[in-house]
Amino acid sequence: MSVPHTRSFTETDVQRLRRGGSLHFNHYGRPPLPFACVGAQGIEMDVADLTAEGRGRVLRLIDTSGGYGSACLGAGHHVVRHALRRAVDECGYVTDELGSQERAALLDRLFGPAGIWSHRFPAQDYHVSGRNSGSEGMEMALRLVLESRFDARRLRHRPGRERRDTILAFQGAWHGWTHGLVPLLNRRHYRVGLPAADSAQEFGIQVEHIPFGDPDSLATFFSARADRLLAVVVEPIQGDAGILLPPPGYLRDLSRRCADHGVLLVADEVLTFGKSGDFFAMADEDGPVPTDITVIGKYLGMGVLSTSMVIARRGLTVRGSGTVATSDLRPVTCAVIHDGLDHLVRGRLVEDSGALGDHLADLVDTGLVRRFPEVFSERRGVGVLHGVELTSRAAARLGELRTELIRAGVYVEFMAGAGKRSGGLRYVHPTMRIAPPLVTTRAQLDEIVDRIATGTRTFQSAG
Ligand SMILES: Cc1ncc(COP(=O)(O)O)c(C=O)c1O
Repeated sequence: MSVPHTRSFTETDVQRLRRGGSLHFNHYGRPPLPFACVGAQGIEMDVADLTAEGRGRVLRLIDTSGGYGSACLGAGHHVVRHALRRAVDECGYVTDELGSQERAALLDRLFGPAGIWSHRFPAQDYHVSGRNSGSEGMEMALRLVLESRFDARRLRHRPGRERRDTILAFQGAWHGWTHGLVPLLNRRHYRVGLPAADSAQEFGIQVEHIPFGDPDSLATFFSARADRLLAVVVEPIQGDAGILLPPPGYLRDLSRRCADHGVLLVADEVLTFGKSGDFFAMADEDGPVPTDITVIGKYLGMGVLSTSMVIARRGLTVRGSGTVATSDLRPVTCAVIHDGLDHLVRGRLVEDSGALGDHLADLVDTGLVRRFPEVFSERRGVGVLHGVELTSRAAARLGELRTELIRAGVYVEFMAGAGKRSGGLRYVHPTMRIAPPLVTTRAQLDEIVDRIATGTRTFQSAG
């Protein structure tokens, strides 16, 4: 299969792109990929090949990542363009000190009397805040959890909450990287060397991790520790752990246990938002699974803004000025979210993505997992969020696989995998994530899987 080479970059351009790559603080602990994006439209993106043999040649790729699951409408979408133009031309930059027409319109569309989520988060029970990223949203969720046991007027524990010093998270969890969140990550190499949660201090907390999706571990933990538990923080589908889905009934059981024991349930839907065939993955055949705090992000910013929303029960608040963010739901953010979500609802893009995802699942199972058992061991996922786990042999050559896929005309991202888990659960290797934007067509899905197969064949024959 040939990948169209639209143009080529000069040696000077290539050097500038390489220099940009080396100036940009590399957080990954390994050299950056030798490719740079030089344009994008829809779900296609042009990248310059910066390798010596590539010599600035431009490759047109299909993007299966949506920019780490952010760009539900792909690149250059007319709805986003109009929203941005409208916001810049008309809406100003007012902060949360003043009301704003755009903010009111957005919150009404989502949570007002006829709002798209008012059945799930009725306005008399929930309030909403905006943050700049998923991590900031999760920080605020954590802050709401901590303040729930604190009496801000008397500066002491709320009576009866003194012993609630434990937060439960899950093995393989990923919730962001900011300081307060680090103890929630069940990743030794992200945590060690940074200040740990410490229940010995006044108002201190401890964080415990149990295997995700294992009903017995959950039951055992609640029987032993429910009276100490302040909150549970869960990704309804674990993302970084390799797209791990819990068994049916698990999330509802978790929610019931939390409600029965006065424990707050925080759903981290930063990644899952809009990708499971529904806006929220905290759901089952009986409908929404109740939560006390839900954090959404990624798709919310339509691929052009980094933003998140924290939807929390009204009883959960912070001390005066406790989480002021002057960027909270400014007009431009509201305009993009409003018009983007409106487009998703009117076009049924989220609902229809369930069937799109079923098609993708079939394609991946037949065209990749069964065809390349030495490279891929298993596909997991739902809607437009799928993970294809690598075998240990392929995982050891992940960089090569990634490069071959790019050369075959497709861009995919890889998740760390959950690694070693307790409770008899098996090791989870790094996992290729296929999370195409909601605007992806069936024909494009066919092409995506074809291109991944082509790249995988080359990778395999080189190994
Ligand atoms: C489940 C989950 N929570 C939180 C975050 C953090 O979001 P952000 O990168 O926008 O800070 C991520 C990022 O990937 C995520 O996957």
